[in-house]
Amino acid sequence: MISRRHFLASGASALAVPALTSSSGAQDRRSLKAIAASKGFVFGTAAATYELKHRDFVLAALHDCAQLVPEYEMKRDALEPQRGQYNFTDLDALFSFAALNGLSMRGHPLVWYAANPPWLAPALQARRDERLMTGYIQTLMRRYTMTSVDVVNEAIAPDGNGLRPSPWLDAFGPRYIDMAFHAARAANPRAKLIYNDWGCEQGPNDRFRATTLKLLDGLIARRVPIDGLGLQGHLEAFGPRVDQRKLRDFLNEVRARGLSILVTELDVLDSGGPSEIAARDRGVADEARRFLDVVLDNPATNAVLTWSLSDRYIDPPEEWKLKLMGWRFRKLPYDAQMRRKPLWNALAQSFAGRHSF
Ligand code: XIL
Repeated sequence: MISRRHFLASGASALAVPALTSSSGAQDRRSLKAIAASKGFVFGTAAATYELKHRDFVLAALHDCAQLVPEYEMKRDALEPQRGQYNFTDLDALFSFAALNGLSMRGHPLVWYAANPPWLAPALQARRDERLMTGYIQTLMRRYTMTSVDVVNEAIAPDGNGLRPSPWLDAFGPRYIDMAFHAARAANPRAKLIYNDWGCEQGPNDRFRATTLKLLDGLIARRVPIDGLGLQGHLEAFGPRVDQRKLRDFLNEVRARGLSILVTELDVLDSGGPSEIAARDRGVADEARRFLDVVLDNPATNAVLTWSLSDRYIDPPEEWKLKLMGWRFRKLPYDAQMRRKPLWNALAQSFAGRHSF
């Protein structure tokens, strides 16, 4: 863990948080975390150490968020670039920032098909040693205090047909998922264990939702210790839309299985629509509301996190677009100048509209 002295010297320590202005310039002291807390759930965001170097990002994060999740610092390629040689510096800095500022942390991810160091797949092929998974899980679950953790991320094939190819599936078969959850629970009984994926949100994905329920039913039937389902929440303002009836029915099925529901990586892609910014922002806000109004109408939902707070850090589709045209995606609650956007207001309205369960 980094020392308090080092952390305070970094300037990213707790800061007096003045009222933040909306894009209209009006003073607005509301905070998303306070509205969420009043309705019985947590709001937070993914954060990265490079974002915490910017005071305006830190101000907004401390104002609006009660929880953080590492954007890349907990990816295995960042943490264990060489087998058995961990680099905890950045992840420790994130957890220290959260602790010093009274925010909780969620972990993401423990086991994923992607962002693995280049040595891992060959090692698994050479020897199907379960400790290559369980040892890593044990190391992280014992080092960090996490409210919840995405134990397995994106295990289902994007078309919903069975499981996604993965070095873990190649090495251990479908039971790799069970192994991961059992190892996580054994290492840290206090953290809530989540299966996290992207694909249940949009209307056309009936097969994906069915496969997700089948996966959950299998885990529950085998008494695998799972506490909740994470919906990543990568939405599209001008693409396949959320079907509110289908989403509501699906989430009722998840709740009926005794699982909690989390939105873990919310953002709303605004490409494919009008070029005019106000229209893009409106489309983003509307789709987020259509999604969140349904998700928050389910009592099992206990957390909503966006995948960062600001458009500033999102790579444009082509670098020249940013250089020549200043074109950016507008997927998140704050723009590149850290001004609130219609999406921020949509989050506030959806949160405030939640029934009190
Ligand atoms: C991405 C991060 O944003 C990148 O910085 C990193 O290099 C790769 O992972 N779904 C997920 C997230 O579950 O972990 C991914 O985050 C985005 C897609």
